[in-house]
Order: sequence, then C-alpha cells, then structure tokens
Amino acid sequence: MRATISGAGKYIPKKVMKNRDLEKMVDTNDDWILTRTGISERHIASSLETTSSMGAEAAKKALKMSGLAKEDIEMIIFASMSHDKLFPASACLVQDELKIPRTGTVDIEAACSGFVYGLSLANAYVVSGMFKNVLVIGADTMSRIVDWTDRNTCVLFGDGAGAAIVSRSEDENSGFLGFRLRGDGSYKNLLYMEAGGSFKPASHESVEKKEHFLRMNGHSTFKIAVRMMSDVLEDLTKEHKLELPDIDIVIPHQANRRIIEGVAERLSIPLDSFYINLNKYGNTSAATIPIALTEALEEKRIRKGNLVAFVALGGGFTWGSALLRW
Ligand code: UT7
Repeated sequence: MRATISGAGKYIPKKVMKNRDLEKMVDTNDDWILTRTGISERHIASSLETTSSMGAEAAKKALKMSGLAKEDIEMIIFASMSHDKLFPASACLVQDELKIPRTGTVDIEAACSGFVYGLSLANAYVVSGMFKNVLVIGADTMSRIVDWTDRNTCVLFGDGAGAAIVSRSEDENSGFLGFRLRGDGSYKNLLYMEAGGSFKPASHESVEKKEHFLRMNGHSTFKIAVRMMSDVLEDLTKEHKLELPDIDIVIPHQANRRIIEGVAERLSIPLDSFYINLNKYGNTSAATIPIALTEALEEKRIRKGNLVAFVALGGGFTWGSALLRW
C-alpha cells in the first residue's frame, strides 16, 4: 500500500514587511539582505493571528483540495517551533477550531524539518493501514520568537502556514517512495532558544537576558545545511535506484537562496528544478515546504507522474528528505 498527498493548502498573513522596513529597525540594508539571502519581503501575523489559527486556515484549503470531509481525518500532526503554547498541542487547537469530530492530535518539534518529519509519520500511519487520511500542518509565527534588535536573525524569518492531507493512494504507481531522516543533537548550540522550557523556566532574568528569542550561528548553520541536505537527498535517491536527474522538482526548505544554490551545485541538479519562493516569505520554518508545495501545484509545476523531492534542515539539527511520485 502507498500513501500520497491528496490535498495541499497555505495561509499567508496579510501584512508585508519589506527589507526597507527593516532598515529602520536594525543596521541593515535591502542590498545586503537580497544578495546574502534572496529575501525581498516577508509576511507578519496580526495580533489576532497565531500559529494554530494560521495552521487551521491552511488545513481548510488542503481539505478542500482533497475533496475529503472533516470526518475523514483520523489524525492531525502539527509541526512547528513556535506553537501557540507549550501545551495544549496546536493540533488540539486546530481540531477544536475546525471541529474535526474523531481524530488523534499530536504536535511535533523538528524545527524547520518538521513538515518532512510530519509527512513521514503520516506516511507510516497510512501504509501500516492504521489510518486512511492524516492532516499534516507546518506553521510558524517566527515574528514572535525573533529578536527584532538582532540583525543576524530578524531579517531572515517570516510567518505563515501550510498543510497537506496524506491519504491512501488509489494508484499503485503514485505516492511516497521513501524518507530519510536524520538528527544530531551535538549541533544543539548552533540554533536554539535558551529559556522557556524546563531547562530554564521563564524568569525576570531570562526576559532581561532576551533568552526567549531564537539564537543562531548562521555561518556554521549555512555550511552544514548545504552538506546535509545534499547528502540526504543523494542517499535517498540512490536507495531507490533512481538518479538525481530523474527528479522533476525539488521542494527545498526555504532558508537562504544561496543554500539552495549550494545544494543544486553539489548535486549537479539544475537550479530551475528547485522551487524557490523565499523572496516573498523569508524563512517560515516548518511552513516553507507546504507553502512551496501549494504554490508549485497552483502554478502547475507538478504534473502526474513527476518525481518530487522534499529536503530540509533545521534546529537540533534535524534534517531529512522524501521522494514522492505524484
Ligand atoms: O532554517 C534553519 C536554518 N537556517 C539557515 O539555514 C540560515 C543559515 N545561514 C544563513 O542564511 C547565512 O549564514 C546568513 C544570511 C545568516 C548570514 O550570511 P553569511 O554570508 O553567512 O554572513 P556572515 O554571518 O558571515 O556575516 C557577514 C557580515 C558580518 O559582518 P563582518 O563581521 O564581516 O563585518 C555580519 O556582521 O555581514 C554582517 N551582517 C549583516 N550586515 C547587514 C550580518 N547580518 C547582517 C544584516 N545586515 N542583517
């Protein structure tokens, strides 16, 4: 039995923040941001929007595309690094918001790789026969966890949500071929949030020291991202006795255009085969891949029979790839 994606959807908050707007906030400029990252603008959630509310909107669109009813969803997997609260799970909040009547609900945290991890779990549920339809959401409100005085990070991120429904495939030739997932906690100090968990609960001191914001060693993360994303995609392709040129479209995590160019160069895959939309949204963490997937479908960049690859790296570090015959 194969599992496939039967629907995808996205939600982007209305407010746009351009590079020029950031020039008024930190010592940066449009040219630096554009040439070093490829980002022109990002969207910022309103005070009424949260990670789960954006996720719910994306889920509605994915459900609509799949043609399924709410009753058909048996599990909700919600990937994020900026969940509404430590608990209850954002998946529960989406269940309540959309009134999905009989479903399991679980949050996962694999930072920017969360959506690929979520797809792998959904795939396992479906191919095991346990569930027929699983809703996977990737959403992040990065504007609430970045330090708006830190130019090293605040220019990179944005808010948004994407979702996909993973369903039993009716066609034995289409569906997920496989996944390769990796994690290495020895990189824990390259991309992290210091306080707010049981290690360092919130205190006056943690707030004063700005320890509730994301911190990143961008330079090291960059180099590791290019290497790990390339390796994991190459290994997965080989494992399935396919060649890299067989891939019709790569939907990569959108952190930095130069990272994507680095992966393309390392693997000798033409850059045209990579779907890139980070110029409009920046890095929306777990949301980048489902947003990009939705837009690639809207633009008819994915056709029946295409070999689609997903690849991501995020804090932890976690990284992984997936191959799907559309
Ligand atoms: O999604 C999870 C994974 N995240 C990523 O993959 C992000 C990975 N990292 C990156 O995308 C890049 O490393 C950055 C965009 C963060 C930085 O680019 P870089 O080419 O690695 O630059 P750098 O960190 O080596 O900094 C170069 C210079 C430094 O100045 P000096 O020391 O050369 O004088 C920085 O202080 O650029 C400076 N700089 C800035 N200048 C203007 C850093 N941020 C800014 C800024 N505006 N916003």
